[in-house]
Amino acid sequence: MVKTKPGIIVAEQERETSEQSRHELRTRLAQFKCCFVELGSGSGLHLLELAAQNPDTLCIGLEIRFKRAFRTGEKAERDGLTNVLVMRTNARLLKDLFEVGEVAGFFVNYPDPWDKRRWLKNRLLNTELLATMKELLMPGGTLRYKTDHQEYFASTSTLLQDGGWRIEKQTTDLLASEWTTNNIPTEFEYLFKSQNKPLCMLEARRG
Ligand SMILES: C[S@@+](CC[C@H](N)C(=O)[O-])C[C@H]1O[C@@H](n2cnc3c(N)ncnc32)[C@H](O)[C@@H]1O
Repeated sequence: MVKTKPGIIVAEQERETSEQSRHELRTRLAQFKCCFVELGSGSGLHLLELAAQNPDTLCIGLEIRFKRAFRTGEKAERDGLTNVLVMRTNARLLKDLFEVGEVAGFFVNYPDPWDKRRWLKNRLLNTELLATMKELLMPGGTLRYKTDHQEYFASTSTLLQDGGWRIEKQTTDLLASEWTTNNIPTEFEYLFKSQNKPLCMLEARRG
């Protein structure tokens, strides 16, 4: 069962990419020249600011948790943002949702680190998903990734290089870097900042 209203496509099941969701998504995409996609958009702080700064771009959040997805959609409505779409779905289903060369930019902010050895297979950013993102990005499209987890950062950076991406920005101390001015913070970022954790950020372009 999928419930939709402008700005929100909320499926009862996280694995659902029904015909109806896809149809709603395609209808919204057709109204914009390009789109940004944020994986694991959480409370929507970053997604909504991204949308406010890019009124001509459809900013799509993929969030597995029902409440977070729904509330983000509600906040977008409250703020009068008409270029936001939040889907309650598993971001691993990207390939079912977008077409090749359709996405202008991907954003992955502070994904769950899954840092025990037996959990590594659960990480969102793996070889397969990065290859899918590369395929879905339009020429010149970028992936921006932030994390507080140094090892996840280093291993993703290696996967990107092995996958033929061009890393154009990279820092293990975002707030002390030249890229802090245009940085859009996230809810988890505020938490890590308050704990004085250094924040890592990279931006990679499809090679
Ligand atoms: C650590 S939180 C970060 C949230 C937000 N990006 C931020 O920086 O404040 C990770 C988020 O990713 C979502 N998430 C985890 N796995 C996901 C998946 N496979 N598909 C979509 N969302 C996912 C979680 O529900 C959670 O909201």
